[in-house]
Amino acid sequence: MKFYNKLIYWYLKNKRTLPWRETQNPYFIWLSEIMLQQTRVAQGLSYYLKFTTTFPTVFDLAKADESTVLKMWQGLGYYSRARNLHYSAKYIVNELNGVFPSTYKEIIKLKGVGDYTASAIASICFNEPTAVVDGNVYRVLSRYFGIYTAINSTEGIKEFKTLAQSLIDKKQPGTYNQAIMDFGATQCKPQNPLCESCPFNDSCVAFEKNLVKELPVKEKK
Ligand code: ADE
Repeated sequence: MKFYNKLIYWYLKNKRTLPWRETQNPYFIWLSEIMLQQTRVAQGLSYYLKFTTTFPTVFDLAKADESTVLKMWQGLGYYSRARNLHYSAKYIVNELNGVFPSTYKEIIKLKGVGDYTASAIASICFNEPTAVVDGNVYRVLSRYFGIYTAINSTEGIKEFKTLAQSLIDKKQPGTYNQAIMDFGATQCKPQNPLCESCPFNDSCVAFEKNLVKELPVKEKK
């Protein structure tokens, strides 16, 4: 069975029920992905609900005062994220007639959106097969394939991106991306991963060679 088939099979049985999983509205997915950078799902949840209730469309967010937006962000930290969201909402309304960009190439031009967020939005909302690489993905792939390249080196960033891109399910890239993130967050965890019940334990290099605790490798800088 292909890697993605096994992963998606796992996901359908184990996925977390989250409000942004019920929509492909790019505005909502963008909000959720920006909020979840540097923030745990459990913490981001109430902010997501508050934001989407107060600003149900990109027009509502664009119309708001920056001070209102920042106040609602209070407690999440990294306030540049909120400023960039507000800035980009105004840009989408004023320059793009309120239409959210629909390709990776256009999405990544938004302020505050990098490779991870653009890949997430393009795959989840527009079925573009762009692989996400976040901390979960580095952990899963380094362990499964037994890769020692440092995940924070230029070489590692390139290597893992290429590998992730080669593994994606092109027919359901959004599902695949969310599956690998959930798998990393709840099964292939940083500490005490659940290897005994893992569907990949018959082919995981780290499990086979007892290297789970050593991977991924991070370079001291
Ligand atoms: N962390 C950030 N975005 C996520 C998503 N869409 N699914 C699972 N974990 C995430």
